[in-house]
Amino acid sequence: MNVYDSHRMAVMLENFGYTPAKNQTEADLVLFNTCHIREKAAEKVFSDLGRAYLIKQERAEKGLDTIIGVAGCVVQAEDEEIAKRAPYVDFALGPLTYHRLPEMLAKISRERGTTLIDTDFPAEAKFDFLPENRAEGGCSFLAVQEGCNNFCTYCVVPYTRGAEYSRPVAEVVAEAKRLLATGTLEINLLGQNVNSYHGEDESGKERNLAYLLQKIAELDGLKRLRYTTSYPADVDDDLIACHRDLQALMPYLHLPVQSGSDKILKAMNRRHDRRQYLEVIEKLQKANDKLRFSSDFIVGFPGETDADFEQTLSLVNEVKYIQAFSFKYSRRPGTPAAVMPAQVEEKVKKERLDILQKLLFDYQTKFNEACIGKAFEVLFEQKGRHNGQLIGRTPYMQNLHAKADENILNKIVEVRVTDATTNSLSGEVL
Ligand code: 5AD
Ligand code: SF4
Repeated sequence: MNVYDSHRMAVMLENFGYTPAKNQTEADLVLFNTCHIREKAAEKVFSDLGRAYLIKQERAEKGLDTIIGVAGCVVQAEDEEIAKRAPYVDFALGPLTYHRLPEMLAKISRERGTTLIDTDFPAEAKFDFLPENRAEGGCSFLAVQEGCNNFCTYCVVPYTRGAEYSRPVAEVVAEAKRLLATGTLEINLLGQNVNSYHGEDESGKERNLAYLLQKIAELDGLKRLRYTTSYPADVDDDLIACHRDLQALMPYLHLPVQSGSDKILKAMNRRHDRRQYLEVIEKLQKANDKLRFSSDFIVGFPGETDADFEQTLSLVNEVKYIQAFSFKYSRRPGTPAAVMPAQVEEKVKKERLDILQKLLFDYQTKFNEACIGKAFEVLFEQKGRHNGQLIGRTPYMQNLHAKADENILNKIVEVRVTDATTNSLSGEVL
């Protein structure tokens, strides 16, 4: 979602005549888009800002003015902290107010020397005020839903991105058409809880994600469709049927489980237990036997014992995820879990994360190795590190690099996999 938001801000700035700077020392405006999900991400902002301030001072000595801005969830949660710890920041905008960036810049040209902050939860939807989106390449994100009403006890999102909001169907379809018209082949529909989507159609009727996926799958030029991130308890039969019926829908689904222990899932306030999660996986798998899964995991949630952690490992052994993101539980101020008793020691968290990641990487490597010799359609997205090399993605979101001519950038071509590691594949264009 932050990548999407950053892109929309970049489009806004380009429309105002800004062009991308080669590096930070040349930039008249530096804007950080920030994440508050774990402490490490949030803290990184302050070290990045410190570096930006040094550059700002160096530029000032040469008579050059630099505007420093911060956007995103750290602003929403820590606006006063930013003004206090980094008073040289010129402005700060929350994730729901970045459509006000032009106003902010106009205001700054009049008032310098204070940090201007806008962390409203505005009544208007920012999407109505953003300029038309356009594709940056063959793959595009498209936010269809934002915010979350789930209140998992560890998570800041309901506080930073606010309550759930679904964009109307027509608006999403119009944005998808623009992305396709400007060169996109793949669209990834985004939302913090994307499958709770309930946007209105033109007659005012609420429609679900399955309806939206069908509408977008019908659009001319669309080759690949994905959606991220789903909440297991909100996977309904219509959505499952999409995985059977929609050709464009890729056979890879990110379906975070967080933990394999029912006790921990309950303490996390997740609306699913282990059995319900596995039933959803089974139904999806029945609808499309090519479908494979990825997940998010948190280790060391308060109260997690060795036995609970074993349950997570056994769940991984059941689902055999082909990719996954795993994190040590990070205590976030203001969330219920932050003040729960039986916080897990850092050392134990680290040990559990190492064990879990080893198991996850084993499955990932096995899956990648099983791809050797097979042919996949690959959408090439960027140039590789070596000359004459391009990097793309398979339907399963694996990174694949191949020797290929630049004219197949942002195109989908058939590639035979020749080699595999944990994190990537190599192949030859057929
Ligand atoms: N600590 C660790 N991981 C977290 N996540 C969300 N909040 C926390 C936290 N406090 C993880 C969850 C979520 C992903 C986006 O980030 O696994 O699915
Ligand atoms: Fe956070 Fe996702 Fe839970 Fe919402 S569903 S509170 S975004 S982890």
